[in-house]
Amino acid sequence: MAARRAVALVALLALAAAAPARASNDEGDALYALRQRLKDPNGVLQSWDPTLVNPCTWFHVTCNQASRVERLDLGNSNISGSLGPELGRLVNLKYLELYRNNFDGEIPKELGKLKNLISLDLYANKLTGSIPKSLSKLSSLRFMRLNNNKLTGSIPRELAKLSNLKVIDLSNNDLCGTIPVDGPFSTFPLRSANTALLFSFENNSRLNGPELQGLVAYDSGC
Ligand SMILES: *[C@@H]1O[C@H](CO)[C@@H](O)[C@H](O)[C@H]1NC(C)=O
Ligand SMILES: *[C@@H]1O[C@H](CO)[C@@H](O)[C@H](O)[C@H]1NC(C)=O
Repeated sequence: MAARRAVALVALLALAAAAPARASNDEGDALYALRQRLKDPNGVLQSWDPTLVNPCTWFHVTCNQASRVERLDLGNSNISGSLGPELGRLVNLKYLELYRNNFDGEIPKELGKLKNLISLDLYANKLTGSIPKSLSKLSSLRFMRLNNNKLTGSIPRELAKLSNLKVIDLSNNDLCGTIPVDGPFSTFPLRSANTALLFSFENNSRLNGPELQGLVAYDSGC
């Protein structure tokens, strides 16, 4: 029995030794897949070398002590192209800072997998489509800035589930429908001052005021 186990162990070790030198790093692969789709005229992503053991030494990428990606800081980088589903694989991400670029296309619904995300800053880009309902799964989220894009559709009612939300800025888009009133959107007077939500819905010409209390919310018709 023991001998057979030893043989199995040796076989396993031999298999491991035969594996390629660079163990695949899923977060590095995800970031590199993103890079492949982007235009980067200022060479901001030049240090993103997929042959390194992990992406922790790449510029604009910050890892935690376990070498998992915690921040992506690409604000003001003149990058264009679309965001992709692979961003949803950065499950340890806390800060996604992609503001003031030329990103276009839709906000990937896979961002809803980023359970640790604290800050989602996609403002001042050219993003189109609607705000994914899946963002309501970002239970750690405190800052959501999607302002100054070309987003359409209504504000998903599900966002009211984001109980940690402190700031939401959806201004300067083309949203329609009504503004949710429950959850963090509530202005219930018993809320303590430090959980007051700062929000902005300015300049969405088709967006109406807060929905009336007691009315069943509906998203249709916009
Ligand atoms: C941004 O990139 C474009 C080319 O896509 C270039 O013409 C422009 O000068 C760049 N802007 C800055 C501020 O680097
Ligand atoms: C309103 O938002 C649109 C779309 O983002 C933008 O083009 C326009 O400049 C904004 N208007 C004002 C007055 O800020």
